[in-house]
Amino acid sequence: MGIKWDTNPKQDRFDPRDGQKTMKAIVTGGNGGYDRLECRVVGLPTLRSGEVLLQVLAAGVNNTEINTRIGWYASSVTTGTQEAATADQRQATANADGGWNKTTPFPFIQGTDCCGRIVAVAPDGDHSTIGSRVLARACMRPSGFESMENIWMGSDFDGAFAQFVKVPATEVFAVDCDWSDAQLGTIPCAYGTAENMVHRGKVCEGESVLVTGASGGVGSAVVQLVKRRGGMVTAIAAKAKAAQVLSLGADHVIDRDADVVAHLGENAVDVVIDNVGGKGFGGLLKVLKQGGRYLSSGAIVGPLVTLDMRSFYLKDLILIGCTAWDEPIFPNLISYIENGELRPLVAKVFPLEEIAEAQKEFLKKTHVGNFVLIPPPVPIDSEGYPGRRETA
Ligand SMILES: NC(=O)c1ccc[n+]([C@@H]2O[C@H](COP(=O)([O-])OP(=O)(O)OC[C@H]3O[C@@H](n4cnc5c(N)ncnc54)[C@H](OP(=O)(O)O)[C@@H]3O)[C@@H](O)[C@H]2O)c1
Repeated sequence: MGIKWDTNPKQDRFDPRDGQKTMKAIVTGGNGGYDRLECRVVGLPTLRSGEVLLQVLAAGVNNTEINTRIGWYASSVTTGTQEAATADQRQATANADGGWNKTTPFPFIQGTDCCGRIVAVAPDGDHSTIGSRVLARACMRPSGFESMENIWMGSDFDGAFAQFVKVPATEVFAVDCDWSDAQLGTIPCAYGTAENMVHRGKVCEGESVLVTGASGGVGSAVVQLVKRRGGMVTAIAAKAKAAQVLSLGADHVIDRDADVVAHLGENAVDVVIDNVGGKGFGGLLKVLKQGGRYLSSGAIVGPLVTLDMRSFYLKDLILIGCTAWDEPIFPNLISYIENGELRPLVAKVFPLEEIAEAQKEFLKKTHVGNFVLIPPPVPIDSEGYPGRRETA
């Protein structure tokens, strides 16, 4: 709505070799506020051996893109995402360790979630895949699944906040379902992270699982994924969102302002899945049974928590950090979607160029589920190839 694209196709890393074909993209110029999100026309990515080009059909919004822009991953940042993002509007911080994997490769294109269509394949690739609608596996394991090394699309290299993105062919998964592009665009980051925790936590039928932030992208996926494994879910969520969380299958909902220990009692649950962190952490260990498992892949309220070592060792607790996705995670998700075992939760859809508005509203956390960005439509050139020639 009234946002102008800068049509000067400056040559960043997006296409160092091809100065002709261009695409619209949101280029994040560096650490800072919303003004670092630039609507730009840049070179189309050039495919190298083993890569495919996706036309981005829908790209989900995640906290990680905000965290990376504001440098939240730096150890000097001690507040939650919302507070840090607001403070950031006053003073931008650039920290060498502010990125997901230490230093962020600014300027670059963010966007972790991609529902796309394969429109080109490197010469050595399988051209029969052209035309397939796919999800890109955002968390990639360049040294294999034996190593915990992991790199992320949209964090370590260019992502989906653009009309096109290039991805290794091994990291795209065709998905055959009647979901909309926007619905599929909610899946990779939130559901991949959620399934990874449920999988690593070895959640079994009949086990009790406490899920914090259950109305969020990851939390709402955890609720569904625990239920599909036959677990019992106690969810923690804002009062206004309780009915929606129950409708996802949660067995009980506890108000996020309630005292969880008073509510559940000590030694009550087998597993805690917590992406909220902050001052509630100690209580979460108290409600775990002897030998219980605590898993986390985030800390939206605050990265610094107080750990009472006695709760940890006297109860033989197992604390599991989760970021690198295990090998079965993404194929599992594709099969769950195709088998109708998951429900997507699209809270709101925005045009890509309204990314700043989308992130502002996303940070208010009045929604349940996920926000999605839709890139501008793509012209096809006379050779049937996507992308167009733009003049400065
Ligand atoms: N390591 C990874 O690979 C990875 C991947 C994905 C996400 N994450 C991280 O995991 C966390 C959750 O991600 P998400 O996508 O589920 O986030 P989200 O969609 O923003 O949801 C977070 C939920 O936390 C709850 N919450 C409780 N207190 C809050 C507060 N003070 N401020 C904001 N939210 C509060 C909110 O639910 P109520 O309003 O119902 O309380 C909200 O729905 C984030 O920190 C994210 O960066 C990490």
